[in-house]
Amino acid sequence: MAATIRNDSDVPTLPALLLLKNLYGDFPNFLRETSARYGPIVRFKGRLRLTRQNVYFVNEPAAIEEILVSKGTAFEKSRGARRLRQIVGKGLLTSDEPQHLAHRRLIQPAFHRKRLEEFARVMAGATAQRVESWREGESIDVDAEMNRLALEIVSNALFGVDLRGDMDEIARSLDVAMGMYHFWQSPFTELLDDWPLPNVLRFKAARKRLRDVVIRIVAQHRAERIERGDLVSMLLAARDENGRGGLSDESVRDEALTILLAGHETTANALAWTFYVLQRRPDIEAALQRHVERVLGDRPVTFDDVARLDYVRAVFAETMRLYPPAWITSREALAPVTIGGVVLRAGDLAIVSPYVTHRDPRFWPDPERYDPSRFLGAIGGHAAPISTGPVGERERYAYFPFGGGSRMCIGDSFAWTEGVIALATIVQSVRLERIGTGDIKPLALVTLRPRTPIAARVRRRRQPAGSLPYAPAGHFEIQA
Ligand code: HEM
Repeated sequence: MAATIRNDSDVPTLPALLLLKNLYGDFPNFLRETSARYGPIVRFKGRLRLTRQNVYFVNEPAAIEEILVSKGTAFEKSRGARRLRQIVGKGLLTSDEPQHLAHRRLIQPAFHRKRLEEFARVMAGATAQRVESWREGESIDVDAEMNRLALEIVSNALFGVDLRGDMDEIARSLDVAMGMYHFWQSPFTELLDDWPLPNVLRFKAARKRLRDVVIRIVAQHRAERIERGDLVSMLLAARDENGRGGLSDESVRDEALTILLAGHETTANALAWTFYVLQRRPDIEAALQRHVERVLGDRPVTFDDVARLDYVRAVFAETMRLYPPAWITSREALAPVTIGGVVLRAGDLAIVSPYVTHRDPRFWPDPERYDPSRFLGAIGGHAAPISTGPVGERERYAYFPFGGGSRMCIGDSFAWTEGVIALATIVQSVRLERIGTGDIKPLALVTLRPRTPIAARVRRRRQPAGSLPYAPAGHFEIQA
């Protein structure tokens, strides 16, 4: 469906300073209220970056499709996204063309469906071991536990290494790095990147610790000189079309760090928010338990079960509707381009937010209500679910937790598989009983984290299913 054509001069226009004023507050809900009040395309006019850059906030599926997909080549990643290079350098998430496409082609085979079947064993095994480590009645920090689990899964599956000894250090360093988000989003802060400010120094020390972990993994792979078939081996073996050259050490480091960070914090957040919601909705928790019981009984979950566990997928999908881990993204126009009938000039910025669109009553009746049945029935394979519901098939970009187009998440199938397997394995063996009564608000940084810890008491239902053919890396080999 084509985006709505409107007259450029009709676009509601607000001062760009409003964006800055709200950046440090509840930015997601500021955007949501702005869209509800002024309409699906709002222009923030100003002199950001000393240029006359306009910022457009776009909350209309057809126009979002234009930005991410059909007119995607008219845009590049925005300054905000490029600022993330401070952490991950120029990896897939932050690089521009033509490097992005060349590296995406190199990395894509690591996520092939055949490999996912192997990864599923790692996902089920790592989850079962984590659940086993929880004692009956113990109180756990769900978010921290999900982060450890997701990091263990991504490092084992994709890098063939065991990072359990580094987990707390990685989490602490990542907290420091994420804490820079507002600083980086604020104008002119590039000028301060090399100043010895306390936050900048703290960040650089944290970045060094993160990079050191990855440098160690790469050095280990080089030293072993064996083709392990994992992602790092693939990056190291990369050659250009003439069979020469390869990626520089810096490129390998940046790509590996990107996957390590993008590949665990997002899924961990989605899992943690799922348990938060389930604690508040015992009816859905009970339905989920019955469904897992019916499909799995007491045997461990396998890759083939993922397609059968449709209610688990619906629960995970509905959590990502209300709490999309990658809650915002933006693009900068490279040339004049018409979006939803509005002409953006070269240099203008387009912001889209799954958080806002996923809670818009135009596409999601009673949007605050957690209702996995919105996603039942039409979820195909492991691709992003196309939702059907009371209003019929929704517009494709009314739901886009993994983005879209050439910059769409490379790990979406990995994340769906992991989410379903981890949820099913946990629900099969334990209940995570709620501790405390208050609401937990999101903290919107690069990802949508819980603002305060999600605490839970472990209530064991049964031992984790069987013993699984999973040994943490070192012993584990991915079959090509
Ligand atoms: C629930 C989990 C996840 C969510 C919600 C998520 C979401 C996203 C989104 C929205 C984007 C696009 C950002 C943009 O358009 O600016 C993205 C990109 C990316 N994601 Fe994910 N992601 C998840 C899991 C993963 C996993 C498991 C991996 C790897 C193992 C991964 C690796 C990446 C990479 C490398 C990119 C950059 C792709 C490119 O630009 O070519 N993500 N992710």
